[in-house]
Amino acid sequence: MIKVKRIFVLVISFIMAIFCVYPIIYAQGVETIKLLAPQTESSKPLMQALKERKSLREFSPKELPLQVMSDLLWAANGINRPGSGHRTAPTAMNLQEIDIYVAKADGLYLFDAKANVLLQVAAEDIRALTGSQPFVKDAPVNLIFVADLSKMSKTSADDINFYSGTDTGFISQNVYLYCASAGLATVVRGWIDKPALSKAMKLRPDQRITLAQTVGYPKN
Ligand SMILES: Cc1cc2nc3c(=O)[nH]c(=O)nc-3n(C[C@H](O)[C@H](O)[C@H](O)COP(=O)(O)O)c2cc1C
Repeated sequence: MIKVKRIFVLVISFIMAIFCVYPIIYAQGVETIKLLAPQTESSKPLMQALKERKSLREFSPKELPLQVMSDLLWAANGINRPGSGHRTAPTAMNLQEIDIYVAKADGLYLFDAKANVLLQVAAEDIRALTGSQPFVKDAPVNLIFVADLSKMSKTSADDINFYSGTDTGFISQNVYLYCASAGLATVVRGWIDKPALSKAMKLRPDQRITLAQTVGYPKN
């Protein structure tokens, strides 16, 4: 009888664990998008991409295919020398302090260049908060460049601003050139309500938004 009682308690505990723990894990909605290896072979010549680089502010709502998203992020700030972990964009003292967040309709993601994945950090669509211009809410992708000040603890206040701004500029230009070569529209943006966006992104006090950049197919 005691044995039957024990088995009963065990079965009930198992069922409770499934019903109580699973929804907690599921509710966190942590989703990882595995990015593809960049396609570095077929592309427009650099001089052609430079000729076509421009800001566009009208976007089609069409999603970017996974290969395009993968190539975009690798071009922006991916690892191009796996041996040393150095990136496609330079940073002062190789601080690598700029993180790229990606705001899409299905949530907010962080680009992890080392693992070549997009880590979901929120399941809400915060695109409308990524800038003060109407097109940001409809474009499929808004990149948000965020300086991680914890990596700049030995940098003076002046240099924090200078380096994080400059380092973001290199990444942004990489995005511009990739977009020119892939037939995508893009515009870098400083017109952002940064306190509201930081709050929506749940950033730490030592994280600072520098710029954002909208990417998508051109309208029509
Ligand atoms: C630091 C910076 C901030 C910018 N902020 C905005 C912005 O908030 N909104 C916008 O529509 N364009 C913005 N732009 C894009 C410029 O308006 C654009 O680069 C400029 O008009 C030149 O056009 P082009 O990029 O086609 O050569 C910004 C550009 C830079 C470099």
